[in-house]
Amino acid sequence: LYAPARINSRGWDLANRADLNAFLESRSAFAQTQWHAAPLIVGAPSAATHAREVFSPASPDTQIGTVRDATADQAASAIAAARPWNAPVATRAAILNRAADLLEEHHGEIFALLAREAGKTALDAIAELREAVDFLRYYAAEALANPTLAPRGIISCISPWNFPLAIFTGQIAAALAAGNAVLAKPAEQTPLIAHLATRLLHQAGVPDHALQLLPGQGRVVGAALTGDGAIAGTCFTGSTATAQAINRTMAEHCPPDAMLIAETGGLNAMIVDSTALPEQAVRDIVASAFQSAGQRCSALRMLYVQRDIAEPLKEMLFGAMDALSLGDPWWLANDVGPVIDPHARDKIAAHIEQAQRDGRLLKQLEAPANGWFIGPAAIAVGGIDDLAEEIFGPVLHIATFEAGEIDALIDRINARGFGLTFGLQTRIDGRVDHVTSRVHAGNMYVNRNQIGAVVGAQPFGGEGMSGTGPKAGGPRYLPRFAEASGPHNAL
Ligand code: NAD
Ligand code: ALA
Repeated sequence: LYAPARINSRGWDLANRADLNAFLESRSAFAQTQWHAAPLIVGAPSAATHAREVFSPASPDTQIGTVRDATADQAASAIAAARPWNAPVATRAAILNRAADLLEEHHGEIFALLAREAGKTALDAIAELREAVDFLRYYAAEALANPTLAPRGIISCISPWNFPLAIFTGQIAAALAAGNAVLAKPAEQTPLIAHLATRLLHQAGVPDHALQLLPGQGRVVGAALTGDGAIAGTCFTGSTATAQAINRTMAEHCPPDAMLIAETGGLNAMIVDSTALPEQAVRDIVASAFQSAGQRCSALRMLYVQRDIAEPLKEMLFGAMDALSLGDPWWLANDVGPVIDPHARDKIAAHIEQAQRDGRLLKQLEAPANGWFIGPAAIAVGGIDDLAEEIFGPVLHIATFEAGEIDALIDRINARGFGLTFGLQTRIDGRVDHVTSRVHAGNMYVNRNQIGAVVGAQPFGGEGMSGTGPKAGGPRYLPRFAEASGPHNAL
């Protein structure tokens, strides 16, 4: 039995009065803060780019800071200045653990930034900080357990806005734990959180030449960081289309043994059969589809309900949707925050409007007028083949099936080529084994929601067009950042 030495963050339990007070008081000190981010690079000329204003998705008139984006020239200077972290493994692990402690100590500022910059509700912000801390401690423990790992060299870490702390930190922590040099490029939408996390990693003792931060545009800075022959590998999380673009860039510019880890999107399904417990299924559907405003790669997109129970289950589901509160994620009463930016809002809204024109919109909540909010929506479809692409927001597609059709619909889901999360609600034991063995998905969840994998306990990652593996937060992840673990997988 694999039993890593690790201690997951205890987090903040808002049902506990002391934790609730600590959460509110620590965050309130940062209610009016203006943050500033810029490249953190070694030996390069100071940033010449203008300061881009950063606004809150919940309140787009409210400026929360500025960022100076890096240039392609600065990316080249950073690559030239990067040096692997050749401290003993025990030192590296101790520093990563110290960084985890620093993140926890700075929880007030982090919770404030996650709400303001990324639109995270209190529960999402707490889960995100816990996950970042868990990644640091887990990869530190894994490095100590595998002291002979030799670093590959320079690793570019390219991260998305939807986990601007957890995934940003997790990628970096793994690369550093194995002794590599890291060039970190956060998403355009969330440079402020990345800047704070990088400063705390430096404060903990990670040398400047081993960790450099390059905020900036994907097609400029991201392309420069992944298209340089000096790069030994890229760790990417984001859309499947960007992963494919990076794969092509690396194939053209990098050595054949350069590594690519790509964790991407999905068309995640859940099957609810007629034996499922309806109250539990509804609670898990709501969390899977609408928590984080549906902006999780793991989120439920395609719900299949057995026809015998479809009508009562939908009625219960729509009632549960009515109980959701949308609004500024700063306030604890709100369950669903905004989507990240106007581009995302417009794309999701267009998808819902099309469904409405087609007479397929079953339910949508009203959204606040100010901010990039989308009312959670449910849309009737025939099945997964009606979904042209991943809609990255609070939109649930619902189809029904008859007893005896389960194998056929799993085959249709598999045939779409994604394989990230899959949910099953049933009280038939034999069905659990049957469905699990037939489904192609990285993470399978039975009689629970299908989001929020826990580092160390539930390694997370997809297959097919959802990712190359290995799973983050699992024992196979760290060796991929070390030498001689093979060429990168093609997407
Ligand atoms: P995105 O692909 O648009 O951007 C991700 C990152 O790639 C950003 O930092 C961006 O600047 C950079 N980038 C863009 N073009 C680039 C290029 N040509 N070269 C190098 N870098 C480039 O994704 P997003 O909108 O930020 O994130 C949402 C997507 O991420 C969704 O599809 C979601 O499913 C996926 N995601 C997957 C996981 C997972 O673990 N599988 C986790 C979170 C999010
Ligand atoms: N690891 C994140 C989840 O499981 C993406 O929801």
